[in-house]
Amino acid sequence: MAIKLNLFVAFLIISIFYFTEVYSLLEFTNLQCESLDKDFALIDYCFLKSVNRSYKYVSIKVNLLQLPITKVKVHFGLYQRLNGYKPFLYNITFDACRFLQSPKSNPVALYFYNFYKEYSNMNHPCPYDHDIVLDKMPYHSINNMVTKILPFPEGNYMFEVLWIAYDIPRAQTKFYASLS
Ligand SMILES: *[C@@H]1O[C@H](CO)[C@@H](O)[C@H](O)[C@H]1NC(C)=O
Ligand SMILES: *[C@@H]1O[C@H](CO)[C@@H](O)[C@H](O)[C@H]1NC(C)=O
Repeated sequence: MAIKLNLFVAFLIISIFYFTEVYSLLEFTNLQCESLDKDFALIDYCFLKSVNRSYKYVSIKVNLLQLPITKVKVHFGLYQRLNGYKPFLYNITFDACRFLQSPKSNPVALYFYNFYKEYSNMNHPCPYDHDIVLDKMPYHSINNMVTKILPFPEGNYMFEVLWIAYDIPRAQTKFYASLS
């Protein structure tokens, strides 16, 4: 795990230095949210919305039923569609509570967090004693976050996020996107 994370960090740093000129277009095609433990988390809403050609956003609200929550990990997996979705490059698990306690200690995570934090109330140190909301996070910020630093080949992708509390997966979010 530690070795994987170091490789991931090294890869990101190399990407940031050498591929910042890559501009690609990431289009989200679908979003799915699912509760994996209905005694713990319920999906209130979860959708993509196109207001017009230049303004599209993602909104998610999850009701948490066993508050407060003091241990949160997030698992990120990227899949590329070939014959079905196959794991592609990223498969990492990340301790959100530890990170939120001192964001500056992890510069790579901080880079991503800076795009996200103004749209979500999951932006303070643990514990969490409220529902989790991602409110109208615009595509362009996700697009910048992903494509300017991560040079993916064109294709269809699925980005899976597993929300883990007390080491048990409680909810799952899947973003489907095409990169051209
Ligand atoms: C798209 O919608 C947003 C929000 O309503 C608005 O601020 C923006 O001017 C619109 N853009 C175009 C090109 O219509
Ligand atoms: C991701 O990594 C974990 C642990 O290293 C492993 O159990 C899991 O099968 C991997 N998932 C994918 C899709 O590669």
